[in-house]
Amino acid sequence: MSNKMWGGRFTSAPDAIMEEINASIGFDQRLYAQDIAGSKAHAAMLAAQGIIAAEDAQKIQDGLDTILSEIEAGSFTFRRELEDIHMNVESRLAELIGASAGRLHTARSRNDQVATDFRLYVRDTVDALDAQLADLQKALAEKALANAATVMPGFTHLQTAQPVTFGHHLMAYVEMTARDRSRLKDARARLNECPLGSAALAGTSFPIDREATASALGFARPTANSLDAVSDRDFVMETLSAASICAVHLSRFAEEVVIWTSPSFGLVKLSDAFTTGSSIMPQKRNPDAAELVRAKAGRIIGALTGILVVMKGLPLAYAKDMQEDKEGAFDALSALSLVVAASAGMVRDLTPDAERMKAAAGQGYSTATDLADWLVRALNIPFREAHHITGRIVGIAAEKGLALEDVPLADMKAVDARINDDVYSVLSVECSVNSRVSYGGTAPSQVRTQAERWLKLLNGE
Ligand code: ARG
Repeated sequence: MSNKMWGGRFTSAPDAIMEEINASIGFDQRLYAQDIAGSKAHAAMLAAQGIIAAEDAQKIQDGLDTILSEIEAGSFTFRRELEDIHMNVESRLAELIGASAGRLHTARSRNDQVATDFRLYVRDTVDALDAQLADLQKALAEKALANAATVMPGFTHLQTAQPVTFGHHLMAYVEMTARDRSRLKDARARLNECPLGSAALAGTSFPIDREATASALGFARPTANSLDAVSDRDFVMETLSAASICAVHLSRFAEEVVIWTSPSFGLVKLSDAFTTGSSIMPQKRNPDAAELVRAKAGRIIGALTGILVVMKGLPLAYAKDMQEDKEGAFDALSALSLVVAASAGMVRDLTPDAERMKAAAGQGYSTATDLADWLVRALNIPFREAHHITGRIVGIAAEKGLALEDVPLADMKAVDARINDDVYSVLSVECSVNSRVSYGGTAPSQVRTQAERWLKLLNGE
């Protein structure tokens, strides 16, 4: 039997393998709520414009409501021979209300329908992600406030560089997440135009009201070019770009959790809630959630690459290639949602080991820059010369196996006679972080200001 939705000029059914490669119902059934919302808005507009009769429109609305509850109750049968969500819904509508169902597809095509459905889906997903990202920021800022004065080693090249505060380090991720949210918000604003009414590619001869359907579906406006509207998947590419950058950020955080929790570092502990044991090594506590957050960036970036390659070189307007826009995006956006939730969970779960952090912060002469800065400030020595003097003092400390703050004054004076007792006031890790009061610096006072500013913003949202 040929397809009853479009099979007028067909005499036989598609080959089984044709049906298999062609059908999208296996994955696009996820768009059911958006598809039904789009159809309801379209039917109401058709009736308001006098294109279909009010009685037909009413039957269509009631039928679509029934279908929505059937799908939500799990009693709806999705049929592969009906290809996709659009024809599954329309076919069921015909079973429920008869001939009136055939009027729903007036002045539209599956091309503008799917573009509308998918924009609505991506918009909903972006909104849900934004709320999750705000929660992650809150978790980070709260932990940062509690650890505004917890000293830890700051690294460059993963070598101990200068002492920083743990709160400051966590607040770095609040800033990164803020940019992620702002990128998603930009993507949302650009995608929020309604393709419905563009029909197959050229628009329609029916006197439709595109402003009405656009506003019924919460879009800012209708799209202005029908060819563009049915063949544009920028909204997928752009959202997945923002999602990929966000996933990359969280993979960096996850990697830090892996490093910090390794017994060789031992800077942070995760509880039983966010670790797993080993089946052979009883002592192990593995940071699997962090590792998976780190790894899932791979599939999110993969989905972005996938859609970019699908769209590259595709002539206008719609082509079936574009049906390949969905699975990768569904998978990537679900993965990101999980990654954000797991990251927030880990942030709330983790406990810094303040003692070990402080000891590690002092390793490797991490206050050497403080010494050089002191020489500049207190003795008016040019920085380059101060750098040189400090290098020699570090050399003495290394030779004697001492921390910088334990090098005797006599040894320092032997390097430069101008050095006095005051120098010891800058050599501890606490003094070091307390002195970094420049805007955006690591001093506890700065961290508190930033964390409080963010928490106020986040709690007001
Ligand atoms: N399932 C299709 C998709 O996801 C819907 C649009 C089909 N349009 C068409 N002209 N065959 O892209």
